[in-house]
Amino acid sequence: MANVNKAIKISQKHLLGIQDLSISDVNFILSEAKQFIDLNKSKNKKLDVLRGKTQINLFFEPSTRTQSSFELAGKRLGADVMSMNLNNSAIKKGETLIDTAMTLNAMHPDIIVVRHQDSGASNLLSQKVNCAVLNAGDGRREHPTQALLDALTIIDRKEKIEGLKIAICGDIVHSRVARSNIYLLNMLGAEVNIIGPSNLMPKDIEKLGVKSFSDMKKGLKDCDIVMMLRLQNERMTSSFLSSNREYYEYYGLTPDKLDFAKDDALIMHPGPMNRGIEIDTNLADDINKSVIKEQVELGVAVRMACLKIFCE
Ligand code: NCD
Repeated sequence: MANVNKAIKISQKHLLGIQDLSISDVNFILSEAKQFIDLNKSKNKKLDVLRGKTQINLFFEPSTRTQSSFELAGKRLGADVMSMNLNNSAIKKGETLIDTAMTLNAMHPDIIVVRHQDSGASNLLSQKVNCAVLNAGDGRREHPTQALLDALTIIDRKEKIEGLKIAICGDIVHSRVARSNIYLLNMLGAEVNIIGPSNLMPKDIEKLGVKSFSDMKKGLKDCDIVMMLRLQNERMTSSFLSSNREYYEYYGLTPDKLDFAKDDALIMHPGPMNRGIEIDTNLADDINKSVIKEQVELGVAVRMACLKIFCE
């Protein structure tokens, strides 16, 4: 019976990418998430909707926000949550992603949350296990819950996404956050500007229905939202930039560049931030402009919604 209901509410068994979701799937996830915002601010945060369910967090890459919020989200819904410490696991002895997945699958989890350095890893995993898989970031491909929490933050502050002008700025080529946001913001009717140096800009980005700019001031003109991205040095195989100082000068968000956006423009960043490289440290902390902390806060609500919906 539960599966019949789930099929009506959401079209997918797994959450692997925004690209797989319909607009009604997205609206359903966001409306469920809204219900958890107040719960997360209250004194008693514990529900039992996932009591008896087992959630495994499998993070092959470092994570602070995503892993901790998935863990808290599962616990607040009453699930038994196990976060694998991959430094101590058989991965270190050469076990593959699939062998690890098969081993965990034999313990009958209800949901696996996975982050992996390879694009497509979560799709592969979803074909090998019986339970639902949530993608917490796969290589450069997608990071769907990040885009959903960004959308919830924008809606919370601006009441809508349709018609807004949104800039995504920085290391686009290595960013799964950029890709998931492009798909989702386009779906929800925003106008998306992509800004970055040409060597950090994917070829054919405009085919995704966005405008691309190498001049930050032009790209920020009249924007409602300025989303900054981290320079992902760990994904760079060769030297992409001459220096961090030069990058900051051309692509760091500073007050003079932000002046080109609308007066009430909001600043976002998925974290972790490189202060003084992609963003001025005072702007990052400016409570009138920056919603970076709210993104983290609403991330828990979005992950609770996703766990509830995909675990049911
Ligand atoms: C992002 C990621 O891991 O893709 N971080 C996050 O999930 N909050 C962005 C990044 O690492 O720069």
